[in-house]
Amino acid sequence: MAPLVTEWVTVTGDISIIARESGEVWFHTPSGTKEKVDPFATPMTGVGAMGSTVGLLDGAINLGFARIEKRLAHPDPTLAGYIVALVGAYHTSVDTPRNLRRAASRFNELGRPEVAAYLEERAREETGHDRLALKDLRALGVPGERLVANFIPEGIKPLCKRFDDLCTQDYPIGCIGYSYCLERIAALKQKTDIEKVEALCPDGVDATRFLRSHSSLGSEASHVEETIAFVASLPANDRIRAVQETYESALIMAEGYNHELLKSEAEVLEELQQAIGEALPYRLSLCPSNGEKRGARPAA
Ligand SMILES: [Fe+2]
Ligand SMILES: [Fe+2]
Repeated sequence: MAPLVTEWVTVTGDISIIARESGEVWFHTPSGTKEKVDPFATPMTGVGAMGSTVGLLDGAINLGFARIEKRLAHPDPTLAGYIVALVGAYHTSVDTPRNLRRAASRFNELGRPEVAAYLEERAREETGHDRLALKDLRALGVPGERLVANFIPEGIKPLCKRFDDLCTQDYPIGCIGYSYCLERIAALKQKTDIEKVEALCPDGVDATRFLRSHSSLGSEASHVEETIAFVASLPANDRIRAVQETYESALIMAEGYNHELLKSEAEVLEELQQAIGEALPYRLSLCPSNGEKRGARPAA
């Protein structure tokens, strides 16, 4: 029987993630002592396996979010917060197919057709997801096109920029880590999360198309599985870079989402009204936690 695969990646100067095929994951801090040789100080060179690769990828996300754990906002959800989340979902989706195709064509140039094929497939799967967010906004009576044209939530901007930058790099393997981070977080959303949002919406309004699709109920769960299998099949250097970028993206995502969640409902309404140039179509009384801290977990 082949021995279990062990994989490891250093994600910051002082922390490495170690994962075994059996599912165990550790965060490792090099001891720095000369007496003992640290086996994880040199980059891994072996093959990957799904059980260990998923440990590295999810470990990277946990580590990224752990950095802001104590400052993490937990506001009650409101409709205004959900509208901002949909705007964010639009902006993190609208350029995804184009960006992924750009990275794919670079991998074709580099003689890596298997990476190009994977990215092209992802580009096809992600096509039209921005329109789901626009439909949800319209269902809520919000002029979606005008709103997204005039408004990118501050916390979402660094995330969009990161993906643009990754996809235009000379060796754009990091875009896989970024995508994994976003999709894995989305796939954590359960039916009850969707029901909470439905409870905020006016009766008879279906405004959870994007959320359903980007949850454990939609295609996101299979995207996550496919990405884990693909990353596990990559050479060690590529796996290392994908995991490192998953960590960097988790840091940016955690800070960005928290930035949005910390805003008061009054601030959010002001931003939305300025962007569309008129009052929102809902009276504030429709927002159950009016006057309190607001927020709905970002839709993407
Ligand atoms: Fe998507
Ligand atoms: Fe997806």
